[in-house]
Amino acid sequence: MNAGNDPTAGAAMATALTRAHALADAFLASLPERPVSHVSSPEAMRAALDETLPESGTDPADVVDEWFARAERGITASPGPRFFGFVTGGVTPAALAGDWLASAIDQNAGLWASSPAAAQTELVVLRWLKELFGLPAEWTGALTSGATMANLVGLAAARQWAGRQLGFDAAADGLAGHPPIAVVASSEIHLSAVKCLGTLGFGRNQVRRVGAPGGSVDLDALAGLLREIDGPVILVGNAAEVNSGHFDDLAALADLRDTHPGGAWLHVDGAFGLFAAASPRLAHLCRGVERADSLASDAHKWLNVPYDSGFAFVRDAALLRETFAAGGAYVLGSAGCWDPFTHVPEMSRRFRGLAAWCALKAFGRAGYRVMIERCVDNAAAFARWVAGAPGVELMNPVPLNIVCFRIVRAGLDNVSVDELNRAAVRAIQQDGRAFVTGTVWNGRAAIRAAFDNWRTTADDVALLQDAVAEVAGSLRA
Ligand SMILES: Cc1ncc(COP(=O)(O)O)c(C=O)c1O
Repeated sequence: MNAGNDPTAGAAMATALTRAHALADAFLASLPERPVSHVSSPEAMRAALDETLPESGTDPADVVDEWFARAERGITASPGPRFFGFVTGGVTPAALAGDWLASAIDQNAGLWASSPAAAQTELVVLRWLKELFGLPAEWTGALTSGATMANLVGLAAARQWAGRQLGFDAAADGLAGHPPIAVVASSEIHLSAVKCLGTLGFGRNQVRRVGAPGGSVDLDALAGLLREIDGPVILVGNAAEVNSGHFDDLAALADLRDTHPGGAWLHVDGAFGLFAAASPRLAHLCRGVERADSLASDAHKWLNVPYDSGFAFVRDAALLRETFAAGGAYVLGSAGCWDPFTHVPEMSRRFRGLAAWCALKAFGRAGYRVMIERCVDNAAAFARWVAGAPGVELMNPVPLNIVCFRIVRAGLDNVSVDELNRAAVRAIQQDGRAFVTGTVWNGRAAIRAAFDNWRTTADDVALLQDAVAEVAGSLRA
């Protein structure tokens, strides 16, 4: 038997962890200079990693070394300061240490009985998040794998509420045979919320969408649509929209919710925009979020904890339990003990609370405020540069941390300019100094840069500018 499959091999465990630590240290130390990505085709990655299941084992320390060496060209510097793609957070030192410890102690955070420490830590994290964002203390919630699952939790609670309005129990009896439940959102509802609505049986194509010029829902059009709907409505708001960083007017959405004759539920997707609420300077953008019925957000974005981590809040605790309650003789909880699995779809769960607890404890409220404001200042600086740079155009004002822009060239038709921008995204990624991603905004191909990494400095913004300027220059030439 080799050390890899001997369960008593404490020395092998220690050696493997030491090797993993050394790899991690070297990787983290390389982040400031490391290319943010390499060109890694599917063929190259398959050639590097694909093989049949090994018949015999390998020493655990050699296993981690081998994986890293073989996979390295496909590892992006996504926790680093120059990864501006999608909406990607980094990992603070405390968050990473907490996450490592969570793996080592391997607690099942699904039930109180399997880890009172994990359950109580999660409760504290949820409390701290409510305090950080000024949310009502009485809201209930749970940690999730990300904002998609947080959207699922909130929208499942909304479905339960709507069923109750119509006289049935959606979790117990399903939607079949009951009148359809109206779901209303802006045209810029995030794809993850749409995916959740499909999963929950509302149907992806049944979402009734209202225009959102500039990224914020058109309130008059929304009010008009609501007037056409008799029964209960689930209203999905954005805080904020992923291409522009613009917010729906959440207070106005809450007013519309309050006055809809058939009753309405307001779910807010605050995957990254909720973090504005942690800054007195930016909190006005989230005004009204505290009036939501459910709220989804991400921790692996702006909280800067490792993937995967998000959180959901629901105003009505009893309703959330009704949505996800599951009885089974072998998992019956004890009175007064909180079982997280009764609030989310999963049963066994990773102990995500530890990384979040460590991150929040290490930064504190002030640390998060400073980091969030720095990210927003970096975004504003980049947007100012875009607005003044030749051959580059800002596509929207920048209220928060997303800059949407494109490269322009006189004399080219729209189709060619779109192709130019798609090529620019590929070229910037290949250049390796900064990672940006593409999108379509107002029907035109565009480029996005999102600022939510705790490490990013003004020097990194300057490198992003250099990369964009050079690529724009060479593509225009
Ligand atoms: C507004 C919004 N909602 C939901 C999501 C999905 O989040 P996750 O990838 O964590 O599931 C994202 C991701 O970027 C987002 O920006």
